[in-house]
Amino acid sequence: MRSGIAWVGGMVLLVACAGSSVTPAMVTAAQKRWPDASREGLERGQAIFASKCKDCHALPSPKAHAAEAWPAIVGKMGKLAGLDAASAESVLRYVTAAREGE
Ligand code: HEC
Repeated sequence: MRSGIAWVGGMVLLVACAGSSVTPAMVTAAQKRWPDASREGLERGQAIFASKCKDCHALPSPKAHAAEAWPAIVGKMGKLAGLDAASAESVLRYVTAAREGE
């Protein structure tokens, strides 16, 4: 019983680590487009994305849409998710960086 719980915990940790950290390559990719982009800013965008963008559908993959398509998607979805302009901008930077810099 106890080992079952530990195993489940291990799986959750594995999933969390596999898809989600902001890498230096992602920061570099974001800075090409937004010179003031930072690791902290991308982590903020990631946290907002992961918590606000899966209430109505599965969390979308950043790679599922072209970089040019994301601004319109985040514009529309940010309103549905109740994001303010700064939060929507953070999400846009994160998804753009995640598709280019993984
Ligand atoms: C209030 C519910 C709701 C929330 C919150 C929400 N979405 Fe959506 N999303 C939808 C619905 C409904 C659709 C399908 C219809 C449409 O495209 O308008 C959709 C579709 C999408 C699509 C597919 C668009 C396409 O063109 O195929 C993407 C990508 C997406 N959402 C991303 C996001 C992101 C990123 C967030 C967080 C900022 C988010 N969604 C938050 C309701 C939501």
